[in-house]
Amino acid sequence: MPDFPDTRPVAVETHGIEKSFGDGAAKLLVLKQVSLTVCKGEILMLVGPSGCGKTTLLSIIGGTLRPDCGEVTAFGQPLHRMRSSELTRFRAGHIGFIFQQFNLIPTISCAENVAVPLLIAGVRSSVAIRKARETLGLVGLADRAKDRPGFLSGGQQQRVAIARALVHEPPMVICDEPTAALDASNGEIVMNLLAGVARSGDRAVMVVTHDNRIFSYADRIARMDDGRIIEVRDAAAGHGRHFLHELPH
Ligand SMILES: Nc1ncnc2c1ncn2[C@@H]1O[C@H](COP(=O)(O)OP(=O)(O)OP(=O)(O)O)[C@@H](O)[C@H]1O
Ligand SMILES: [Mg+2]
Repeated sequence: MPDFPDTRPVAVETHGIEKSFGDGAAKLLVLKQVSLTVCKGEILMLVGPSGCGKTTLLSIIGGTLRPDCGEVTAFGQPLHRMRSSELTRFRAGHIGFIFQQFNLIPTISCAENVAVPLLIAGVRSSVAIRKARETLGLVGLADRAKDRPGFLSGGQQQRVAIARALVHEPPMVICDEPTAALDASNGEIVMNLLAGVARSGDRAVMVVTHDNRIFSYADRIARMDDGRIIEVRDAAAGHGRHFLHELPH
């Protein structure tokens, strides 16, 4: 299906992405001709049943996985043509990734985890740790900066992962189920941070979610099924973003 026409400047676009895992009879085609545009200034939510390919697509858009074929252009640069070293550098400068499984480093403190993107970017470690602590404060975890992630609850670890994705102010923030482990008040804090990223106008946010408390934050919702984007539609963010504290029964 044709991609949603939009006049806003493009942050990331994919054309004809295919991705499979495995070989021979066990080969599984996970993404089938996926074309999708994420615009600057928007929160695009991606929804669909478990196993339909959402994390795989996010990983390709975020440059942590390569497509078998097709094109991925992010901020004007063709990721599918980059060498691994170029891709790593691009990712460090442009992408904040909140992984479904958090991917925190267990042997270092929360502040050190959050500081990683800044250290990769060459920021002096004292400055990086100070900024990491400030960002932990934004997600309500200033008092846990020195603890290792293993001492924190699932929701607290998720917020550390969110702080790490935002600390270096990347132009593209990619989130895989960012609110799944969060209660309403922390979910609202996180979504307001992501809305702030999108509101800046030059930056874009892409969120995979099953969480119907957060849909009013979406500018557009893309629906995926069995490896394809089957619908992209405008959503309600223009009418005010708010966290749904009470779910309808
Ligand atoms: N590294 C891998 N090796 C083999 N198969 C994989 C790999 N990663 C994903 N898959 C398969 O690709 C399909 C899509 O997986 P993906 O993680 O993208 O789904 P998803 O839509 O994110 O699901 P969920 O909502 O459960 O997180 C699944 O069938 C999965 O088993
Ligand atoms: Mg997934």
